[in-house]
Amino acid sequence: MRKQIAAANWKMNLSLQESEALVSDLLKTDYSFTNNQLVLLAVPFPYLLNIQQKISGDNHFSVCSQNCAATENGAYTGEVSTQMLNGMGIGYSIIGHSERRLYYQEDNSTLANKINVSFKYGVQPVFCCGEPLEVREKNAQNDFVQLQLEESLFHLTEVQMTNFIIAYEPIWAIGTGRTATSDQAQHMHAHIRAVIEKKYGNDIATSVSILYGGSVKASNAKELFSLPDVDGGLVGGASLIASEFSEIIKSLKK
Ligand code: 13P
Repeated sequence: MRKQIAAANWKMNLSLQESEALVSDLLKTDYSFTNNQLVLLAVPFPYLLNIQQKISGDNHFSVCSQNCAATENGAYTGEVSTQMLNGMGIGYSIIGHSERRLYYQEDNSTLANKINVSFKYGVQPVFCCGEPLEVREKNAQNDFVQLQLEESLFHLTEVQMTNFIIAYEPIWAIGTGRTATSDQAQHMHAHIRAVIEKKYGNDIATSVSILYGGSVKASNAKELFSLPDVDGGLVGGASLIASEFSEIIKSLKK
């Protein structure tokens, strides 16, 4: 059974003290987790170890980095490698968030390199895809997202693709308060699964967790997460508020 995942992406927010208080609050709720449910906290690099320490002992919570380098090591000032993450016990990294694509010019082939170094050092990618508004307005979103998947992921082996994690985040829904409708989300998630099925077969496509991201809140999470091909969410703004994010966690499919 594929994983249902509530992933918090704090982006570049919160002081260390605020982030520790937020996690303490999140851990106060009884979520009655099932075995296939997971919470990821994608926190800024400097907080990874503190937050990992805070959640240690809770096997449904894991920390996640928000990015990683495309190269293994060397003279790349300011970068953080997957080898370093692995050495710190960090098992997950977001790769290809639209903000990285936009502000740091990360293209599909750079992201393929990031995926490769992640697998090399045992860090599970949470791969983001999604179209900008102008592509959606031309109704060209399916081909756009398919190309993102093909160019960054489709060199992976069947073993690597099994239980893979993808986040579909339409750029026009990020931080805008404008969530994709249930129809829009389900259509794209089913499309992503169909594209994977065509390349890797049904068993692997069924094992992939596809999260929705873009203005997920406590008030819309239940409806979005109940869709057949939506396996949870990647949450920005609402993940900074304990009462919101704990409701979102509780909205995961059982
Ligand atoms: P918001 O939830 O703030 O729209 O952000 C979504 C996102 O970018 C998560 O990675």
